[in-house]
Amino acid sequence: MTDPFYVTTAIAYPNGEPHIGHAYEMVTTDAIARWARLEGRPTFFLTGTDEHGIKMVQTAAAQGLTPRELADRNSARFREMASRLDISNDDFIRTTELRHYESVQEMWRRMAANSNGDIYEDAYEGWYSVRDEAYFDASELTDGEGGRKFAPSGAEVSWVREPSYFFRLSAYQQKLLDYYAANPDFIAPEERRNEIVSFVRSGLRDLSISRTTFDWGIPVPGAPGHVMYVWIDALTNYITGAGFPDESSERYRTFWPADLHVIGKDIIRFHTVYWPAFLMSAGLPPPRRVFAHGFLTSEGKKMSKSLGNVVDPHEQLDLYGTDPVRWYCLREVSFGQDGDWGREKFINRSNADLANNFGNLAQRSLSMIQKNFAGSVPETAQTAPDLAIVGAAIAAIERMREAMQTQQIHEATAELTSLLNAANLYFAEQAPWGLKADLPRMGTILATTADVVRRAAIAAQPFVPASAARLLDSLSVPSSERLLADAIRPEGIAAGTILPLPEPVFRKFDVARAG
Ligand code: MSP
Repeated sequence: MTDPFYVTTAIAYPNGEPHIGHAYEMVTTDAIARWARLEGRPTFFLTGTDEHGIKMVQTAAAQGLTPRELADRNSARFREMASRLDISNDDFIRTTELRHYESVQEMWRRMAANSNGDIYEDAYEGWYSVRDEAYFDASELTDGEGGRKFAPSGAEVSWVREPSYFFRLSAYQQKLLDYYAANPDFIAPEERRNEIVSFVRSGLRDLSISRTTFDWGIPVPGAPGHVMYVWIDALTNYITGAGFPDESSERYRTFWPADLHVIGKDIIRFHTVYWPAFLMSAGLPPPRRVFAHGFLTSEGKKMSKSLGNVVDPHEQLDLYGTDPVRWYCLREVSFGQDGDWGREKFINRSNADLANNFGNLAQRSLSMIQKNFAGSVPETAQTAPDLAIVGAAIAAIERMREAMQTQQIHEATAELTSLLNAANLYFAEQAPWGLKADLPRMGTILATTADVVRRAAIAAQPFVPASAARLLDSLSVPSSERLLADAIRPEGIAAGTILPLPEPVFRKFDVARAG
């Protein structure tokens, strides 16, 4: 499969330090991007930061900084986190960059030039939540003491009136419903799709898309005093990243429309209603798919600054290292559902799947090749049980591929784990350590096991890239033979391949120890 593949994360607000939810989104999207590359697809993976809006202005003021200084400081923290998580993004976009200003202003011009008159001037009055940067309908609010009103997120809203440009979203109801019907895979998971379809069916109101009450945003072309509503600015990052407005660029022609936007469930309306409508209005093709993942809690509780239980990814990385953190995100949480970050579950998962299952199998089989065959992969004369485990490996990796096609990441990692369980069972049943008197049979078992480790390690690269690379190094697999096709080819490792001394790849953690 060589179709190009363009995948993005949401761009986070850099008004604070990144937390484990941001890490989770980057890691899951990274696994998807790396899987596409494993299949040999030309892949472009974009992440970044969403730097405008009133919230940035307020947070900066509270810290005695300019919004620009705050954005510079925290955007760097997001990049640093991406690097520690081994995120393979091809680009990192900041909405304060010149390329993005040009792109957003061109989007606006095209929407305004649309013959439907999609952008018009009026005044806006309504219940506005600064924290959500969104207006809410009275029916969505809950009442608090003293007439205070709150948005569904729990943030307080206030009544705001300002001159504003509007986007004629109401004109897009049928077009969106038609788009959903023609593209049944556009919104995932399925439950989310149903929610959005009924939301759009219930009717769409025009959207206020400019602000005059602050200036930390992208100016509306030809309308002094107006800056763009932060969501037009933010959503457009995806097409800026692809090279827009230069539609003749190689990148744009290869990668737009995007194949997949990975986002959290709280911002699905923006991505599946507003964003395709903006693009249709500008005469540009909408993305192919939006996948909404769930939220992570911390030891079973919602993460919040006031509870002081926000999980700091840097702390987790210091304690456990990159690949165990990644593995937990990809294996423990069903992608699309909520999940929990819990210390004990983390340690058990890492020990069971990585150290005991994967690590031991590799270490035991490779040390025996060193000891009994001087580090040279033995010849094989495979019989039924050997052929069966190789066949099982290929079948498991094929199922991983199928799961990854629809972003069932947890299914793919579960398949990998079952495969390693089966391989451990094969190794235990064949008991090569007892075959000192039958070296050809011992050699067959060891070479077969090493080959299953090779196949599994190739398929594990998107999930635990550094560890998988070390395993493949210890099997002397050349870098040109680490693609999915190599994991499912019939031939195993060539007999006579010289292997270096194996080193343990995965650490074991102790639940009883603090930290
Ligand atoms: N800036 C907007 C997105 C604009 S995209 C054009 C935004 N930023 S955010 O920083 O609040 O969130 C960034 C991403 O992190 C979102 O997809 C959000 O759903 C996700 N998460 C925020 N908290 C999370 C958890 N606790 N768990 C998992 N993901 C979470 O929204």
